Amino acid sequence: MSRLTHKWNLITERNPTSPISEGYRVLRTNIEFSTINHKLQIIMVTSSKPGEGKSTTCANLAITFAQANKRVLVIDADLRKPAQHRIFSISNHIGLTTALFNQQELQDVIQHTNTENLSIIAAGPTPPNPSELLSSKQMAALLEKVRETFDVIIIDTPPIMSVTDAQIVATQSDGVVLVISSGKVEKEVALKAKASLEHVQANLIGVVLNNINRNHSESYSYHIRS
Ligand SMILES: Nc1ncnc2c1ncn2[C@@H]1O[C@H](COP(=O)(O)OP(=O)(O)O)[C@@H](O)[C@H]1O
Ligand SMILES: [Mg+2]
Repeated sequence: MSRLTHKWNLITERNPTSPISEGYRVLRTNIEFSTINHKLQIIMVTSSKPGEGKSTTCANLAITFAQANKRVLVIDADLRKPAQHRIFSISNHIGLTTALFNQQELQDVIQHTNTENLSIIAAGPTPPNPSELLSSKQMAALLEKVRETFDVIIIDTPPIMSVTDAQIVATQSDGVVLVISSGKVEKEVALKAKASLEHVQANLIGVVLNNINRNHSESYSYHIRS
């Protein structure tokens, strides 16, 4: 059992049979199916704006893959506003930044959760130069190394319309999932986010329509391209 307590964040663990958890499983299945023509090992999750549900989607998608017996790693690459350490109640003193600054070995920044098959690299202390760090040779090398140990790597990122970080990570990922908060983000903004991803030739594999409504929470996913 996990010690994760947040009421909403980890619904796939708290209530695996709920329709919302089923939505995450549909997303997982879509990703699994799209691997037939294209290897999808590193999947990045982003959105146009803050607060659309990127981090929540990352965490639940990761749990859903772990429940299907995949070896899963979540990397928190939202170095500006990290969330995975809170969601999974782990330390943020060590993480991606301490590994990239060569302060720690890769194996020492991978934290294990109480969820079987699920490990996390938290963001680590916020650096002065997140974009530079994410586009560094060290980042590329780290991703190559984790490919050897994990079946699926899910990367949390900052919103695509604010900074270039997500575009940088997109170029290093096999597929991108775009979270859109229905009702919160205008169509033009969502289309701009999609265009920014296309600009860097990202492989947009799916869209999650996340309805952030406190009284009636739902997440739907649909596949837009394989
Ligand atoms: N479908 C949903 N229904 C209700 N609350 C949600 C839903 N998705 C996310 N949230 C909540 O909304 C807030 C922002 O979500 P988060 O995943 O942190 O967004 P982001 O990473 O895009 O900034 C969090 O408090 C999270 O628990
Ligand atoms: Mg977030």
